[in-house]
Amino acid sequence: MSAELCGVELRGPILNGSGTFDAIAARKAFGDVLLDEFPFDLFVSKTITVAPRQGNPPPRLWETPAGLVNSIGLPNKGLRGFLAEDLPQLGELPVPLCVSVMGFSRDELAELVAAVAERDEVELIELNFSCPNVETGTIMGADPAETALSVERLRPLTRKPLIVKLTPNATDPGAVAEAAENAGADAVSLINTLRGMALAPGTNRPWLGAGTGGQSGPAVRAIALAQVAEVSRRVGIPTIGMGGIATGRDAADFLAAGAAAVAVGTESFRDPAAGRRIAAELEAILRDERGFLPAASSERTAL
Ligand code: FUM
Repeated sequence: MSAELCGVELRGPILNGSGTFDAIAARKAFGDVLLDEFPFDLFVSKTITVAPRQGNPPPRLWETPAGLVNSIGLPNKGLRGFLAEDLPQLGELPVPLCVSVMGFSRDELAELVAAVAERDEVELIELNFSCPNVETGTIMGADPAETALSVERLRPLTRKPLIVKLTPNATDPGAVAEAAENAGADAVSLINTLRGMALAPGTNRPWLGAGTGGQSGPAVRAIALAQVAEVSRRVGIPTIGMGGIATGRDAADFLAAGAAAVAVGTESFRDPAAGRRIAAELEAILRDERGFLPAASSERTAL
């Protein structure tokens, strides 16, 4: 079930959603068996920022009947700490590495992309324009013109593939995807979480320390599938589909909707090996359903 994404050869089409699987902590917990049975075919790092961040005040998670609302707030060591401490460890993973970055300005983004692109461990770069948990997180991704300005600024800095992570909290995600493509992005990924809220039982006050967060998991799957189908119709670059994928059937649906690859997120909290299970289920589905192939671009318009 090999796959290819922006010229990078993969052993299959299953990625992790950024920030939903801590490969460094998992290796400490499970040892090197993690490398032998790595759950994903490409690893996407937790999003990093230029300056170190503590993240949002707790509580940061709320479980819903079909998923999670998270308000993590991009805690990370900052660019220097990431390059010195985390990147060498992520470079030991048995699959290609994509580093996810988020800047509070285009200058910050440029600093991140230039520094990360220099490193041999990094094969692809995700531009997270879609974090709902920091004040300016979705500004670059909610407006096509802002997305275009950012990608145009970053494109000359590297030949490595740039993947724009889209927000579902935009009026027209397809227009944002088209702007990203026209400005030089190599792929788009979607969806990030949908803005959500939970009240602490019996208080009438928000549970999450930051007030609101982002809903993920099976609750958002139908929305994600519709947006992936729409965006895949409107761009020629690959789309990476995610949003509540928990089974091989879910993954097959996203591929049929036009995604070139899929990412598993919330399901990995329940089952850290979910990526491999979903890959095996997907392979069986693709084998059994003779004639099933991920939709060619000419077929996508039928969806
Ligand atoms: O850490 C975070 O809150 C990440 C959020 C996101 O990108 O969705």
